[in-house]
Amino acid sequence: MSGNDFVVVANRLPVDLTTADDGTEKWIASPGGLVTALTPVLSAHQGCWVGWPGVADAAPEPFRTDDGVLLHPVSLTSDDFERFYEGFSNATLWPLYHDLIVTPTYSRSWWQAYRDVNHRFAVEVDRVAAHGATVWVQDYQLQLVPGILRQMRPDLTIGFFLHIPFPSPDLFRQLPWREEIVRGLLGADVIGFHLKANADNFLQLVRSVSGVSGGHTGLPDSFEVTGHASVREITAHVTSSDGRSVGVAAYPISIDPTDLVEVDKAHVAKLREQLGADTTLLLGVDRLDYTKGILQRLNALEELLADGALAPEDVTFVQIATPSRERIEHYQRTRSAVEEAVGRINGRFATLGHPVVHYLHQSLPKPELQAYYAAADVMVVTPFKDGMNLVAKEYVATHGDGSGAMVLSEFAGAAAELNQAYLCNPFDMESAKQAIVQAVQGLKRTPEVTAERMRAMHAQVIEHDVDLWAQAFLDSLKKAQ
Ligand code: ADP
Ligand code: F6P
Repeated sequence: MSGNDFVVVANRLPVDLTTADDGTEKWIASPGGLVTALTPVLSAHQGCWVGWPGVADAAPEPFRTDDGVLLHPVSLTSDDFERFYEGFSNATLWPLYHDLIVTPTYSRSWWQAYRDVNHRFAVEVDRVAAHGATVWVQDYQLQLVPGILRQMRPDLTIGFFLHIPFPSPDLFRQLPWREEIVRGLLGADVIGFHLKANADNFLQLVRSVSGVSGGHTGLPDSFEVTGHASVREITAHVTSSDGRSVGVAAYPISIDPTDLVEVDKAHVAKLREQLGADTTLLLGVDRLDYTKGILQRLNALEELLADGALAPEDVTFVQIATPSRERIEHYQRTRSAVEEAVGRINGRFATLGHPVVHYLHQSLPKPELQAYYAAADVMVVTPFKDGMNLVAKEYVATHGDGSGAMVLSEFAGAAAELNQAYLCNPFDMESAKQAIVQAVQGLKRTPEVTAERMRAMHAQVIEHDVDLWAQAFLDSLKKAQ
């Protein structure tokens, strides 16, 4: 056993190992909000990050980043990739926790792989964590790790944070392995969620087990819940079956605004010129995931163009879609439908050399992405369900001058804090259309009001940054020791 006092364990490392055509290997930034949020936290704590290097069957040696963070890779075989990552994590838990936007698959073979891989992650943490270390386990892919580690290493302080929503007990009860998952989570000293509503769902689940609400989950009835979920401070405790007290609270994740302040003005001006300086520029930025509602926002745009509510010569829509989970059937279907819609809309409304929709199926360097945020008049964020949605916060952080406007789904976790956005229900086409029109018109007709709304959201994001998120969680964990 050796020497790291602070260990973060997540399914992914912050970098993916890629191999170019000429066989040279390169590490590139890996996708997603978890990496965006944890990278500055790890740099500040000089910790160790245990995770998968993003490609199957690779076994790179541990190494230190320029920021002094020790990256400790965990290998996944092609079979693990298929059954643990694509299967149980992303075709069972992901749809179940996102309120069944698509139907989850319950496979016993995938569950076996999930258990095995969680065990392997715990073994790696055991190897790198110093006696008495603080270990922070991340996200739905690793929900069994707290319980396994608790058995292996009772000396550790263990935190768990869920980066996606936690569903209502009624949905969670579908999961054939629900007992094991809850036991795994309760191995932690503190369990964190983004929203109070998610923490409430978890507490309600556990409470129904202990008979307080009279429900029946099939879980063992030896838990006790005291208190109520709150934000950034633990007021609810669950007593686990081994008599430990587990704190439960909500810690809304955020961004590091200092990462975003340097916008290259010349680059932004060039983008605007390329995309049409006189048009209203609407922007979508998402992993290409069916939860994000990309197709539905394109459909809303198409109807607005067809209705005449927006004129094709007055608007440009840029959709940047990061490739994600590309072999999973629902992701393939979503991509085909999105690309078909882009082609159809341009076929109907573009003129030669002037597409209405620009579509990039690419990951972009951060400064490039930020230039798009700065250039955009209206950010369109319309997930059916999202734990938080850091893209929304990144856009707001780029518009401290009050420029721009944001359409935001009420089902994004970020809507709880960014309620000055033009909120919409993405399941309701009329609601999505109305919010887009209101944002576009708000910029033109009531610029002061729109700027006031943007400034209020900016102040919220700057004040409640990722540092506050991490500190609040780690403070809770310290108190739990
Ligand atoms: P999720 O975690 O579900 O992917 P979030 O919106 O919380 O969603 O986080 C996405 C993160 O990925 C953000 O930090 C955003 O800047 C980044 N990102 C999204 N799309 C791209 C892209 N095409 N290129 C580079 N980074 C991207
Ligand atoms: O936010 C949910 C999440 O799964 C994170 O764990 C991760 O950062 C992101 O989405 C990307 O997903 P994946 O690791 O499957 O590419």
